[in-house]
Amino acid sequence: IQSTITLNNGTVIPQVGLGVFQTPDGETTVNAVTAALEAGYRHIDTAMIYGNEASVGEGLRRSGVPRDDVFVTTKLWNDDIRARRGRDAFEESLDRLGLDYVNLYLIHWPADGWSQAWDDLQAIYATGRAKAIGVSNFERHHLEELLAHTDVKPAVDQIESSPQFANQQLIDFAHAQGIDVEAWSPLGGTGGNLLADPQLAEIGDKYGKSAAQVVIRWHIQRGVVVLPKSTHTERIRQNIDVFDFNLTDADMAAIDAIDTGKRNGADPDHFDF
Ligand code: A2P
Repeated sequence: IQSTITLNNGTVIPQVGLGVFQTPDGETTVNAVTAALEAGYRHIDTAMIYGNEASVGEGLRRSGVPRDDVFVTTKLWNDDIRARRGRDAFEESLDRLGLDYVNLYLIHWPADGWSQAWDDLQAIYATGRAKAIGVSNFERHHLEELLAHTDVKPAVDQIESSPQFANQQLIDFAHAQGIDVEAWSPLGGTGGNLLADPQLAEIGDKYGKSAAQVVIRWHIQRGVVVLPKSTHTERIRQNIDVFDFNLTDADMAAIDAIDTGKRNGADPDHFDF
């Protein structure tokens, strides 16, 4: 009973996916992926730079869940964008994953050369080996530039978004263009203090839910795809057990009010990696 969103090219994406940024390669990632698939996740979000694509593929195979039932995303890294290696880098990602297609392939950051990389993604999309293509960490001006030139509209923009940095104007702009949004660091990220906010626990108490579940539910109700990360089986299970309650408008407004307007992660207009 997971909710899904239909992307602008008709591809269906489960609204909660397991994020594996900073999940160590090897058994930790294999176990996180198998635990997620056993808990009912059907969406895993990785990237070349996370260094764990092979373990994501291994976890998928070990779970016994049919490949076609799972939505797999990976991303083209900045060095490969700058080196104009989009098509080769895509093949290398598929090889590491041990898959013959991904569901979504993203430009990871708007690094120099992204516009040529986008041409590579369009060519890959035409072969059917990426069922959808999109971008990540694109600000409004990047999206405007892309939309002015592209034949294929990006299906998604994956951006930082949490109650502390809602990024709502960018989300509204993307939605108005028919581009869906995926939230990274949706729980405020590693080492964040968001989940300790007593307001979240208080809201959760009304429904028998944790602060993390409340935040994930907030993302779902504002219509974005949410990619919580955990390496703990119990939390992985908890983070998808969010389809049996509804936040009220007042709950949503209280969580909206947490916004500080300050990012936890890198600024897409000034990053140095
Ligand atoms: P861990 O991997 O040790 O479980 P984000 O998804 O915003 O990047 O945040 C992930 C951070 O929140 C990680 O540090 C993760 O730690 C922690 N986390 C994930 N799910 C939960 C949960 N249900 N309860 C508490 N902390 C969580």
